[in-house]
Amino acid sequence: MERCALGLIGWGTVGGGVVDILTRDAALFRERCGLDLYLKTIVTRTPARDRGQKPASATITDRVDVLLNDPDIRTVIHLVGGTTAAKDLCVACLKAGKHIVTANKALLAEHGDELFALAAKHQVTIAFEAAVAGGIPIIAALRDGLVANRIEGIYAILNGTCNYILTRMTEDGKDYGAALTEAQELGYAEADPTLDVNGTDTAHKLAILARIAFHGRIPLAELRCEGIDKLTAQDIESARTMGACIKLLAVAKPSTRGLELRVAPTLIPIDHPLASVNKNYNGIYVHGSAAGPTLLVGQGAGALPTASAVLADVVDVCTGRYLATASRFQFFTSAHAVPLLPESDEVTSSYARFIVADKPGVLAGITGLLSKQGVSVLNIHQGTPNQSGQALIEVSTHPLKSADFFAAIHAIDQSGLTLKPTVTLRRL
Ligand code: HSE
Repeated sequence: MERCALGLIGWGTVGGGVVDILTRDAALFRERCGLDLYLKTIVTRTPARDRGQKPASATITDRVDVLLNDPDIRTVIHLVGGTTAAKDLCVACLKAGKHIVTANKALLAEHGDELFALAAKHQVTIAFEAAVAGGIPIIAALRDGLVANRIEGIYAILNGTCNYILTRMTEDGKDYGAALTEAQELGYAEADPTLDVNGTDTAHKLAILARIAFHGRIPLAELRCEGIDKLTAQDIESARTMGACIKLLAVAKPSTRGLELRVAPTLIPIDHPLASVNKNYNGIYVHGSAAGPTLLVGQGAGALPTASAVLADVVDVCTGRYLATASRFQFFTSAHAVPLLPESDEVTSSYARFIVADKPGVLAGITGLLSKQGVSVLNIHQGTPNQSGQALIEVSTHPLKSADFFAAIHAIDQSGLTLKPTVTLRRL
């Protein structure tokens, strides 16, 4: 049986999950993979802290050189957040000839080119199943299970914090602030949830998925990204009126003119499989040219789900399987940049909410201007006017070019038919 000494840098929530699984279920790895995995060195800034767990095999230290200088340790589990110290530690490990298993999506999305080139130079690899959607094996699915497919579209809910907040806004009519507070109290949201709620975390994960699915560099700065922090209880109620719910949706859809790539709050028709992915769960709907649609649902964060993905990578790396597969796909070393489709050329369904005076001719005026711009209405709803005579007119459209949709909205807002700027959202 092969003994595999592992290093761990970062003993936080996910590190604790790794320690738990290796302590409790080491026999699984022996039986299933013929590997005797053990933690030899754990590097943490707080080695004296009592975590209620102490792997018998491990030296616990705050000195990374202990791990770097140990030729026994070929694989390092890198669970350091951020992109500064995390990058330095990753670089040091690669230069020392260690394979890296990481959960850090920001690091890969922002510095993947450089880090993978360095890994190739030192003939080691970087495995990152845990960086996207925690316990869902989406990287392995795209890399291996769906290898016979051209990917025709990825539609994904990739942030549990946002999904929890949106679910609670939908279920209870809570406003955004109250739902966020609840998510924080239950430990689903960070004390500082900025990168979750503004869409950045989802954008990092989408960039990684797109890179694998479409084989090239993704210009992260061009990835359009909107979060959920501006959504109101009215948006959620309006979605319900239109037979939909709102999810923070990551979309990657190729076309002959470029890759449509965005993160945005999106109306999902209630009968679409992604509409039932609720609470802190993630869901990834992949359209393959041969397999057709596949939906993977699971927990995208948390100690054990993320550690599950980390240890799947550890097994692939320690058996040599990952290195063979990764070099076959050259995930992050491709020089080719994937061209992105400009927003104006995207062809999608949309939703608009017009606030109007309840007067004869207003509805006809709006539909007239929509029709003039070639907007085909999928469904339309007008609520009972309020006491001041204001009414909501809500419209969902068939798919059309974004430029045409926004030209119609601009014309309507300029026409004097609306009392406030029109609210628009994407619709799946
Ligand atoms: N904070 C993320 C989430 C998990 O809420 O899904 C880590 O990316």
